[in-house]
Amino acid sequence: MVYALLLVALAAVAAAAVLRHYLPLLRGGLPKGSFGWPLIGETIGFLHAHPSNTAGGFLKEHVARYGTVFKSHLFGSPAVVSCDEELNHFVLHNEERLFECSYPGAIRTILGESSALVVTGERHRQIRSMFLALVASTGLKASYVASVDESARSLIASWRGRETISFCEEARKFPYKVIMEQVLGLPPDGPVALRILEEYQIFMKGIISLPITLPGTAFSKAVKARKRISETMEKFIEDRKRSPTKQAVFLDVLLANKELTHDDKVAFLLDSLLAGHETTSVLLSILVYFIGKSPSIIDQLKKEHEAIRSTKGKEEPLTPDDYRKMEYTSRVINEGLRCGNIVKLVHRKVLKDVTYKGKNYRQAADVTAE
Ligand code: HEM
Repeated sequence: MVYALLLVALAAVAAAAVLRHYLPLLRGGLPKGSFGWPLIGETIGFLHAHPSNTAGGFLKEHVARYGTVFKSHLFGSPAVVSCDEELNHFVLHNEERLFECSYPGAIRTILGESSALVVTGERHRQIRSMFLALVASTGLKASYVASVDESARSLIASWRGRETISFCEEARKFPYKVIMEQVLGLPPDGPVALRILEEYQIFMKGIISLPITLPGTAFSKAVKARKRISETMEKFIEDRKRSPTKQAVFLDVLLANKELTHDDKVAFLLDSLLAGHETTSVLLSILVYFIGKSPSIIDQLKKEHEAIRSTKGKEEPLTPDDYRKMEYTSRVINEGLRCGNIVKLVHRKVLKDVTYKGKNYRQAADVTAE
């Protein structure tokens, strides 16, 4: 009898927990949609690999069935997915008033609690201003453009004599090289940089994976890789403090900041490598993919670049002025950003009950803007 009562009590608690979990999406007024399977929801379908120049089968099929805004259950939480330009605009323009940046638990665990994508409020402002300082410190300075030019040339030179190259892998090395040099002052082809690059490949595979903490899963491997990268970054910080060198690197600006904690500084270094690693590199690959299909674009790009080259010596590096002249190139890059679906989604949490175009977005539900 006691066991039966205990079982009923446990079942009631479990049912209450499940109901509480799904409640935000069970009330009326929400967009149509499906919760998928218990607990995992529709996460597996959502994460299914697809070509980067498409929105993928999951979104195509859901948008056809429910419209551009639909409810779902993703990464362990009820969520509303928006592929609607106007709603996305509304969400992003009401940041911190009605919506707040909030990534799923698994991504937060891997990025760490001090990551720019995880912190909110005043701490977010402080970390964000450090990133703005990084952009300002490099900007379009002659030394920065020359260093990017040199990285591109040395990468291309390393392809000589090779029969095939995997462009996606090569593209990953390029922004990584630039950030390694600019932020840490580290030779990008040295053993430390190459080891961190390997760790990053493991780290990235786990960021968008199922959060299963079992030995051998992509998630567990990523958490371990993050810890190892983090330890290496801590060592950089200690070494730099002990023996500062004359070479100016952004790490010194970071270390001189009194507002950020030690953990914030380690997370900043992790974020800056991550931000370039999976974004700029994918953009480069997408551009090569699109340009390869369009000989007329190649011709126009060549014309623009050869006109600039013809005014310079063979080994003379590019300057910020040369870069400003690349109008057509900039337009091609912007088109790659528009068509390339590089960052597939951003996650937001609803801070208050919001009604937009007759639909309710309940407090604490997640909104995933595609
Ligand atoms: C093609 C290249 C890039 C693309 C497409 C891209 C895309 C994005 C997107 C969509 C977000 C918004 C995430 C959100 O609000 O939830 C973001 C945030 C951010 N990105 Fe990038 N990114 C690129 C390159 C970079 C690089 C090179 C850096 C720095 C080295 C960087 C640093 C950041 C930082 C710090 C944030 C967080 C900003 C904040 O929370 O206020 N990104 N990026």
